[in-house]
This record gives sequence, structure tokens and C-alpha cells, in this order.
Amino acid sequence: MYTMTPYRKFLLGLGLAGSLQLGACSTQTTTTDETMTAEQQGMAQAPSDVHSFAKPAEAVAHHLDLDIAVNFDQKVISGKASYQIENKAKGNEIIFDTRGLEIEQVYLGKEQTPTTFKLGDEKEFLGRPLIIAIQPETDYVTIQYRTTATADALQWLNPQQTAGKKHPFLFTQSQAILARTWIPIQDSPGIRITYSAKVQVPKELMAVMSAENPQQKNNTGSYTFEMRQAIPSYLMALSVGDMVFKPIGQQTGIYAEPATIDAAVYEFAEMDKMLVAAEKLYGKYRWDRYDLLVLPPSFPFGGMENPRLTFVTPTVLAKDRSLTSLIAHELAHSWSGNLVTNGTWDDFWLNEGFTVYFERRIMEEIYGKDYADMLNVLGYQDLQHTLEDLGPNSDDTRLKLDLEGRDPDEGLTDIAYEKGNFFLQNIERVVGRERFDQFLNKYFQTFAFQSTNTDLFLDFLRKELIQGDEKIAEQINIEGWVYTPGLPEDHAKPTSKRFAQVEESFKAWQSGKPANQLQTKDWSSHEWLHFIRMLPEQMSQQQLAELDKAFGFTNSGNSEVLAAWFIHTIRNNYTAADQALDNFLTNVGRRKFLVPIYKALAATPAGKKKAQEIYVRAKPNYHAVSTNTLDAMLK
Ligand code: BES
Ligand code: ZN
Repeated sequence: MYTMTPYRKFLLGLGLAGSLQLGACSTQTTTTDETMTAEQQGMAQAPSDVHSFAKPAEAVAHHLDLDIAVNFDQKVISGKASYQIENKAKGNEIIFDTRGLEIEQVYLGKEQTPTTFKLGDEKEFLGRPLIIAIQPETDYVTIQYRTTATADALQWLNPQQTAGKKHPFLFTQSQAILARTWIPIQDSPGIRITYSAKVQVPKELMAVMSAENPQQKNNTGSYTFEMRQAIPSYLMALSVGDMVFKPIGQQTGIYAEPATIDAAVYEFAEMDKMLVAAEKLYGKYRWDRYDLLVLPPSFPFGGMENPRLTFVTPTVLAKDRSLTSLIAHELAHSWSGNLVTNGTWDDFWLNEGFTVYFERRIMEEIYGKDYADMLNVLGYQDLQHTLEDLGPNSDDTRLKLDLEGRDPDEGLTDIAYEKGNFFLQNIERVVGRERFDQFLNKYFQTFAFQSTNTDLFLDFLRKELIQGDEKIAEQINIEGWVYTPGLPEDHAKPTSKRFAQVEESFKAWQSGKPANQLQTKDWSSHEWLHFIRMLPEQMSQQQLAELDKAFGFTNSGNSEVLAAWFIHTIRNNYTAADQALDNFLTNVGRRKFLVPIYKALAATPAGKKKAQEIYVRAKPNYHAVSTNTLDAMLK
């Protein structure tokens, strides 16, 4: 069942193998270190996941057969989650994660003999362990369950919240630890399962998952799915609604509501090119198809890399393909994240930092270096803001995090994304692009379909790239980037030629040149974003009106431009933008936009009142991921 990867062999040599993926270790019980295999020794030392109750070294699930029905009237998912399990310790229990689930019955074996179970105490963020009584030889358990109103992964949309306005819609968001709110599951990124699913939905709707998907609606409302590649639980995903499919290339296509599909096909026409560029960089795409699902605007993230089917916000439908780096990002996760996975949420930078690095490489491949440079500079600005927010000495500004006792959502900052990216760019600079690409190729191949962690990555880096060279080690500066707060002092600051031109125009405006005479021809939304971010905190009504008249910011169809502009209109009480702001906040549920806008509003007493008034109306449209953050901010 278990085959040794080349890298595991390599680690065996170092006595490190066991720290690889807990779930895959072999199990004979042995007593002394001498007689234990290196893997078993490692098993004992393996870092455990503080965000899961599961004990995969004792009993672990390998495959899930999900059989569920989606009930829009009750807003409930109910059915059975059956697992093929390995009782490694030959003990008498297996533990799954649950949060807010009603567990109705649990059975053992294919013949479904009822067994006993208990739900342990509730822990904040984590939910309750489901402890199931099993026999030493048990290899299959079935959990009959239903979701409750507290299922934070689920957003049930009424028809008014969709583009078509006729049918309800449902989507899940499992990352980081919300899969357990809609499926009883061993909810740790260090554990992988394959799955099959049967999902019953209302006849007029279609269902899609992070799996092999239908391309057409059928007339029974019953859909089956297969995911043959093993994935971590946070990539379990389901969406149900009135959707259609249109192909882009042979291997790529788009699902969206009928009202949105054509705009999406135009916007993402380059996704096939991105796939070609990505494969050229880091090797074959391992998941067969790559499709997108465009969600209604309440989707709380920009994108979510659900395997085979990225979920994406419609706020990137800018009509000019200017925000598609987000697709490059989610596609890149097919390597960094989905193929080679952060083993715990403390290692989140391995998912996101690598993905940002890879995203910029894909964009450079397709649009050239000048384009990727702009993204880097914007990312660097985001990073600076995050460092200011968290404080330069905050432990949360280290790449390797310590999220014990906290919601892993707290690790979701630009540290993982941009500090992670700049660390990798720094290594690239030190060893040269060619060597670094070879190294990354090997890394993805070696750890494919496994979980990794910061130590394993760094061991691989030392072995494959540093190779004892002290000068290289010093320049790469692992300690400074990974374990030290803030940024190493000597880090290279990204620059952009195209932004230099924006800065010139900006200066000209500041020294009195009228806005409508500025050189802004051919600016992309990135240049506009840079321009808007440079605006001073204090501006006169006249200045704001002049810019608005010249460039139409308040009526922009570009969500990034709008969200950046609103920060200035709020600060300076430019009421001409109030209606557009209201529309934006009541339609869009993307947390990355909502948080800074509500924060800007809440900065003054009058603004805070206004924020609360809008929030009451807008909240029914937001996903729990967003309201959990905003509730805390606006109470
Ligand atoms: N995997 C993340 C989203 C995520 C992370 C959800 C952690 C829940 C917990 C996804 O790949 C992502 O990074 N999305 C970004 C877009 C990106 C271009 C930076 C987003 O949603 O803004
Ligand atoms: Zn990401």
C-alpha cells in the first residue's frame, strides 16, 4: 500500500524520514529505538497538528465515500460519510473532527453494524472530537450526520443574492479548518484522502465538487464525483446552483451562472496559456482538468484553489483581463499547496509564499517582466502595511508561525504571501534562476502528494542548494527570513519601470498640472492602483472631484481601483462616492476589500455609525468568514 518515495529514501539516510507525513508511516509495534525503522522513530517525533483532534498515527482515514443530500429549504446537508480506514495501532478508537455537526449514528464495516461513539468537549475554533469505537480489524466506518445552522463553511444564498435572481445557490469554503463544519473528517492538512461522492440536489440545479465534474445538468438532480488523487481535507469543496459550463481549451473551462458565463469566458480566455506556462516552469499538471467556478459576489475570498475546480470571486471580472494574476495564483496552488501541502497551519507560508512566487513567474512568462514587477511592488507595499499593522517585532511576522490556541485564520496575512515570496526571490537571486528552477522542480517532484513543513523544506534547501557553501548560506539567510520578525535589513526592494512613469505623472499633478492632462494612456489597473495608493491622506474636496472627473474612479468597474479609491473618499468625507460605496459594500463579500473599507469608516465616530448602519443591511450577504472578522471590528 505504501511505497517509498525517492526523497523518503534520501531522508532515511539523514534519519529524518519520519517527520514526513504522519499518516503514511508503517505500523508494527516495536519497543526499542534500535529495532524501530527510521520512519517509526520519526513517527514518534512527528510534529502534530494542534488544530485537529485526529490521531493519524493511531488510526487514519485513506478514502471517503460521501453520500449526501442538499436541502435548500432547511439549509441542511445530511447523509453519510463512509471512510476506508487504517487502524494502525490496532486500538479501539478512531477520532474525527466535527464542529456544529449532529452525529446521528455510526456503523462499522461494509455491512454497517452500529457502533458506539462520543463527542468530546467543545473547544473554541476546533469544535468537538468524534470518538468512534472500533475493533482492531475495522477497516470501514460510516458516519450518518447532518449539518446545523452553525456550519461556517457553508453559504446558502437566496435567489436575490445570485446573478440570475431565480434560483438559490450554495458553496463551501473549507480552508483552513471549516471542512469539519460540513463533513465529519480528519481535518488536518497533514492527512490526505481520495474520495467519491454522490450528491442529491434539487432537479433544477447542478452540483460541482473539487473532483471530476459533470459538464451538464441532468434531470434527476443526482450527481456523482470521483477524486482519485489524495488531497488534504481543506480542499473538500462543493457548490450547487444554476450553472453552466463553457470550455476554454482542451483541458480548461469555466462554470458560472448563465448570466455571468460569457463575461467570464472573455475574462479568463488566457487560462490555457497560464497552464502551459506553469507546466513549463515546474512540471506536468497532475490533476487532469483545470476549471474555474465563478461564484456570486458574496464569496469571501478572491479565489480558492479547490483541486480541478478553482472557486473565484466575480470581482475579478473587470472586462479587460487586468486582474487575472489571481487565476495564475490559484493555478499555481496545483503545485504549491495541493500537490505539496503545508503539514500544519504554522507552515502556511509554504503554501502561499511559494504560490505568490510562482504566480509572478507565470505572469512574467505571459506578460513580461515589467508586468510582474508591478505586481511585486504592490505586494511589497501590502507587506509593509502588514508589518506596520502587526508591529515589526511581532512573532506573527515570522514565516514559521505559532498558531497554537488560535484560529489558523490569524495566520492569513501578507507575511505568508509576500514575505514568503520575497524570501524565495532572494534565494533565486543568490543561486541564479536556472538553478533555483531546477531545485523547485525537484522539490515538487520529491514531495508530490505529500505534506511538508518548514523544517523539511529547509533541510531540502540545505541539501540541494546550499550544499555546505557558507557564503550562499549567509546570503540566503534562513534565520533572518524564516525565524526572525520583520524583514532582513539588506533585503532587495522591488522596483518597477512602469510605476516610475506613474510616479512622474503623480508628481506633475502635485505640482499643479491638471489631472486631465496627465500622461495616463495605456495604464492598467495596477498603475491606477499605484497612483491611488500614493494619494495623500488629507485631500480637499476639489482635488478629489478633479481626479474623479478626469478618471471616473467612483464609477470604475474595477473592484481593486474602487476599493482603493473608497479609502480616500471615506477619509476625506467625499460624499459624491457614498452611493457607490453603499452599493459596493452591500454587493461584494470579499473580505480583503471589506476589512480596510470598514476600518476606514470606523476611524471616526460618525463614520462608525455609518459603517454599522450599512453593515446591518449588508451582513446577510456576507459569508461567515467575513462576518467573523467584521463582527469583532464593528461591535
Ligand atoms: N488559499 C487561499 C485562500 C485562503 C487561505 C482561504 C487561507 C482560507 C484560508 C487562496 O489561494 C488565496 O490566497 N486567495 C487570495 C488571492 C490571491 C491572489 C492572493 C484571496 O482570496 O485574496
Ligand atoms: Zn493562495
